[in-house]
Amino acid sequence: MKHLSIITLSISILFLTGCKNEATPKSNETISNETPSIEQTTPKVEENLKEINLEISSNDQMQYDKTELKVKTGQKITLTLKHTGKMKKEVMGHNWVLLKIGTDIPIFAAKAVKAKDNEYIPSGDEIIAHTKIIGGGESDSITFDAPEKGIYDFICSFPGHYAIMKGKLIVE
Ligand code: CO
Repeated sequence: MKHLSIITLSISILFLTGCKNEATPKSNETISNETPSIEQTTPKVEENLKEINLEISSNDQMQYDKTELKVKTGQKITLTLKHTGKMKKEVMGHNWVLLKIGTDIPIFAAKAVKAKDNEYIPSGDEIIAHTKIIGGGESDSITFDAPEKGIYDFICSFPGHYAIMKGKLIVE
C-alpha cells in the first residue's frame, strides 16, 4: 500500500507540473494582449443592469405562474404577459396591472368591472403600468420605468380575477 501511495504521489506531481507549464504564458506579449479585452466588457455589464426583462404567464385556471417579481429602482422594465390557455379573452381574459402603493384593491377592482369598454382599465391615477387584456395563446409586452423602492401590488383586472390573480412587484 505504501509503495502504491508513492507511485500515485509521483504521478500527481508530474501531472501538476505538466499543467503548470502549459498555463504559463509564453511571453509578456500574451498578457498585454489580453488585458484590454477585459476592460472593454465592463461597460456592457453596467448597461445590462439598467434594463430588465420580466415574464409572467397566465392560464385557463385563472392563475399567474408567479406571485413575486423583483427589480431595482430606475431599471427599465420590459414585462411580457403570456396566456398559455385556450380560452378566449372574453371568457378568461387576463391583463397585468401594476398599482400605486396604498391603492384599495377591492375598490379599484369594482371600478375596473365597470370599465369593460376600456378593457377593464378604469380612469383614475391608481395605475403605474398595465398590459392589454389577452386570451389563450396571446401575449403582450410593455416597457416602463421601475418606480421608487417599495412593494407594489399587481393584479388582473378582469372581473372576478383579482382575488386569485395577484402578486407583488418588489422594487429594491
Ligand atoms: Co385574469
